[in-house]
Amino acid sequence: MSKKFASQKLIVGNWKMNQSLIDIDLFFEQLIKNKDKIDCNFWIAPQYIHIPKLLSFKSYLPKLFCVGGQNASHKESGAFTGDISSKALKDIGCDFVIIGHSERRSFFRESDEIINVKIETALKNNLKVIFCVGETLQERDGDHTKDVIKNQIVKGLKGLSSKQLSEIIIAYEPVWAIGTGKNATVKEAEEVHRFIRNELTSSVGLNPDELIVLYGGSVNPENIDALLASPDIDGALVGGASLKINDFLKLCYASSTRTSSEKK
Ligand code: PGA
Repeated sequence: MSKKFASQKLIVGNWKMNQSLIDIDLFFEQLIKNKDKIDCNFWIAPQYIHIPKLLSFKSYLPKLFCVGGQNASHKESGAFTGDISSKALKDIGCDFVIIGHSERRSFFRESDEIINVKIETALKNNLKVIFCVGETLQERDGDHTKDVIKNQIVKGLKGLSSKQLSEIIIAYEPVWAIGTGKNATVKEAEEVHRFIRNELTSSVGLNPDELIVLYGGSVNPENIDALLASPDIDGALVGGASLKINDFLKLCYASSTRTSSEKK
């Protein structure tokens, strides 16, 4: 990622399987009204079918706004009923895709190996990738957090060049914090973010200032300030709180007052 991009905080709304067309109209009416108060990168990944609708608002918003997919196929094209390709996402105007979310790993049994192929395919199609990693409560309680994260990173990013890796954003999302209302403390998040940064910068020589590591898991307007105050947390991947425009705006405003430039 470029230095300039990395110097601004990033809020990514992961809408999951939510929102109706009316909800989206009301959301964007307010977002556009308040756009001048936003000075951070703000991205949204809606359900696939709503992607064109979100893209239709792009011209009313600053370039800081991007639209992406919540998942993409491991294959370029072919007989894969129900799947969506990275190529189609790029074709329609998406800038990014989320890969390896814990809900994909658990409900759809996505392995580290398949996630690795998905990442490679997305990068080949010039999409930025938000690659999610995170431990379960049982793994944290058993003191395996770093081993789990390292394993996910090593397998998920296997074989990628440093140039490809520079298009990847890592989202640390402890599984126990997703949708539970129980976020990781700043100290807990920072510790893992530093670990991820060290792993990636020492093993593949990435510039630590250009590596973006987001935190995800029960982020809301009440805890965002404390999280973003950490120079190791470059932004947030947000589920529940990104669905309500007032909360999403508060997250964007909190991010706009900070830069990541004082990093590490
Ligand atoms: P949450 O979800 O903010 O609702 O915890 C985060 C995510 O799953 O990305």
